[in-house]
Amino acid sequence: MRRSLVVGNWKMNGSKAFVEQLVGGMVGVLSNAQVDIAVCPTYVHIPQTLTACAGSAISVGAQDCSHVSSGAYTGEVSAPMLRDLGCQWVILGHSERRQYHDEQNALVGAKLTAAVESGLLPILCVGETLEQREGGEAQAVVASQLEGSLRDQVSLAGLVVAYEPVWAIGTGLTASPEQAQEMHAFIRQSLENIPGLDAAATRLLYGGSVKGANAGELFSQADIDGALVGGAALDASEFLAIVNAAC
Ligand code: PGA
Repeated sequence: MRRSLVVGNWKMNGSKAFVEQLVGGMVGVLSNAQVDIAVCPTYVHIPQTLTACAGSAISVGAQDCSHVSSGAYTGEVSAPMLRDLGCQWVILGHSERRQYHDEQNALVGAKLTAAVESGLLPILCVGETLEQREGGEAQAVVASQLEGSLRDQVSLAGLVVAYEPVWAIGTGLTASPEQAQEMHAFIRQSLENIPGLDAAATRLLYGGSVKGANAGELFSQADIDGALVGGAALDASEFLAIVNAAC
């Protein structure tokens, strides 16, 4: 039985006051959650978020990490640093990283190695563009993203995969529960070919315009184990509604 997981990806949003208000609106209510819950603020808001979430059901992650552990890499933040702060999770290969920072599968794979080695739980994002879906390439694109970053890993401990169709991110367009389930089943089947991974036990999240109103239907699908939430994670009551739908 896979335990549900709901992760908030705050992207490049927030301020000290906003974080205080957002986390403050969630911690008390979530003290007894039956699902795993995490939020991923910007790097600069991680210490404040860790303090605000201490003792609550909410754990904290980062939105990215470096592929190396230290050295002359100006502007980068490493996985051991994040672990040292108290982070448990790291999102890797988000489509915005792939699009705006030209991240390729091999680099995402190297980041995944660094994350696992330092004890962070990686959330690997995969997903096709609208053009790729319309061209009938969705499964091939997702398969190559999985293969390109998971093959040859020494350990995939705690791996979570998030399917986020690029055309559904921040657009208000959600994959239908059937479309999402079809891809999740395909991902689970593809993971069976990755050595060292227990595909049946691996949690698969859906991401792309998830909100309180559509979460229940998505979570009722056999291979959808939770959500990676962007916009709706910036609103305490929406995020709580998604968490409740996962309970
Ligand atoms: P969204 O973003 O929920 O705003 O569509 C999801 C994501 O990018 O993780």
